Amino acid sequence: MTLGKTVKKAVIPAAGLGTRFLPATKAMPKEMLPVVDQPAIQYVVEEAVKAGLDDLLMITGRSKRALEDHFDRAPALERTLELKGDLERLEAVQHASSLAPLHYLRQGDPKGLGHAVLCARQHVGDEPFAVLLGDDLIDAQEDLLSIMIDVQAKTGGSVIALIEVDPSQISAYGCADITAVDGEDYFQVNRLVEKPSVDEAPSNLAVIGRYVLHPAVFDVLENTEPGRGGEIQLTDALQTLATTEGEGGGVYGVVFRGRRYDTGDKLSYIKAVISIASERVDFGEELKTWMKEFVNE
Ligand code: G1P
Repeated sequence: MTLGKTVKKAVIPAAGLGTRFLPATKAMPKEMLPVVDQPAIQYVVEEAVKAGLDDLLMITGRSKRALEDHFDRAPALERTLELKGDLERLEAVQHASSLAPLHYLRQGDPKGLGHAVLCARQHVGDEPFAVLLGDDLIDAQEDLLSIMIDVQAKTGGSVIALIEVDPSQISAYGCADITAVDGEDYFQVNRLVEKPSVDEAPSNLAVIGRYVLHPAVFDVLENTEPGRGGEIQLTDALQTLATTEGEGGGVYGVVFRGRRYDTGDKLSYIKAVISIASERVDFGEELKTWMKEFVNE
């Protein structure tokens, strides 16, 4: 019985090739692109740790060594900073390696997000777990993941996070058809479609990259045929679970209205950097003043 087990493990798929950012990502993982002065992936790891997850598995692939290096100790660099007396940067460097125990697993074949999650099966075992995708950054003030963990414990099913998007944008996301659950602020998910066209979309509710999944998803993924783009889609496995009754069945949605930044394509990435930079206490105000002047020119 998985109901009520505390979620402790997180899976962070990071095997994607990052083709949308070429040539920047020719020799560097897209997850290492800086958002102000931290790589995007560090925000995601910090979010998982803040939600109480203390066993993190990153699914990587070829050319992703920089990820492991980033979260590892860097003795020579630390010593140089120490000798210089640069304690602030020393602390920042050490912080990245002290966040949580991180494990790494290579996906091998790039067969899609569903396949990446399936690779985590042995590590996760028979307990509910979180999945965090690096393209979505959730503001550190928000509690989305903790709320989703609570909904998972309450329902015993799998939980997805949804945002309302302009209908013209829905084809970039998984899309959900939902109904209200009496007396609760989460929703029952009736149907999920991966990246539908505007005409096929059952709603304007888009799946974002946070999931809390029942381990029943693994058996379903084993039997999920390649879907959109010829890849094994997590959305398709969740569609199966949404219509499954009994242990591990049922998918629930939390509609998120808080601050989220998308680093998945170039324009969204630039917006994410500007939003986060403008909130920095050390130079946010200065940046905003400059942006006003820049726009007026
Ligand atoms: C993945 C999922 C999609 C979801 C999106 C959120 O797509 O397949 O359902 O809406 O993440 O970021 P990707 O953006 O990896 O193509």
